[in-house]
Amino acid sequence: MTTQSTFGVGHQPLQGKVALVTGGATGFGKAIVEKLLSQGANVLVMDIRYSSAEYARNDSSTDPIYIQGDVSCENDWKRALQQALTAFGRLDIVVNNAGVLHKAQPSIELSGDEWERLFRVNVKGIHYSTKTIIPYFIEAEISGIFVNISSISGARPRPGLVWYGATKGAVNTATKGLAVEWAKQNIRFNAVCPSVGETAMMPLFLGHDSSPEAREKMLSTIPLGRVCQPVDVANAVSFLVNDDASYMTGVCLEVDGGRGI
Ligand SMILES: NC(=O)c1ccc[n+]([C@@H]2O[C@H](COP(=O)([O-])OP(=O)(O)OC[C@H]3O[C@@H](n4cnc5c(N)ncnc54)[C@H](O)[C@@H]3O)[C@@H](O)[C@H]2O)c1
Repeated sequence: MTTQSTFGVGHQPLQGKVALVTGGATGFGKAIVEKLLSQGANVLVMDIRYSSAEYARNDSSTDPIYIQGDVSCENDWKRALQQALTAFGRLDIVVNNAGVLHKAQPSIELSGDEWERLFRVNVKGIHYSTKTIIPYFIEAEISGIFVNISSISGARPRPGLVWYGATKGAVNTATKGLAVEWAKQNIRFNAVCPSVGETAMMPLFLGHDSSPEAREKMLSTIPLGRVCQPVDVANAVSFLVNDDASYMTGVCLEVDGGRGI
């Protein structure tokens, strides 16, 4: 087993590795894609909303390959794996980042359809991810790595986002269960748990209240006094997929400015 450090000028610790990032067209996912590319990985993005023509390319030396797919569709996972193998010949890292949120509201007002959409994307998506990719890791004898983007609300639910928090609680539990179940095969599972972040999700967290007061109130609950930036999440993912974290599995890493305390 290597213990190569992540640090060092020009060092590309993920050279030769291939990563699949879901929901990588925007928000946290886009920052994760850019970070992994900057560390030398080849990256495949699976996102539901954007066509490759619309995908904003970045300044990295290599652009990601993009496929349009829905994480809650098992067949799209099979397509994604096939695409990674065709384009890059292997797959080492899966970042289950795609997720959806409901507008902050009393839990009894959330519709059944919306409840199902949340669990379908946030939880079932990870089920299909593991169901498709774990057998490949075992067959190819790859010590694969999964990182699930959860939320601080999975461990610390708050009023208004109860069912979203419940999906992320399920993500945390699944991450730990999978970590134990597949440890013998040296497949690692960790989660990153951000607090509210500067992405398209922010208005939903605030219940579409765009007043400065609503933002101030939210900021007052975060000890470090600022919202989570996409790069904060990308840095945590980068740590977890590198060899520096080779002894870490089943961890739900809070990237929340102290919000979870
Ligand atoms: N932004 C926050 O405040 C925050 C806080 C904690 C956790 N998170 C989690 O971080 C992750 C990313 O959130 P974000 O803020 O970047 O959101 P975002 O809405 O900015 O981006 C989500 C991306 O996922 C894609 N996507 C949505 N449903 C999909 C599906 N079924 N299949 C494939 N792609 C799909 C979207 O097209 C989009 O590109 C989510 O899992 C979210 O729950 C976000």
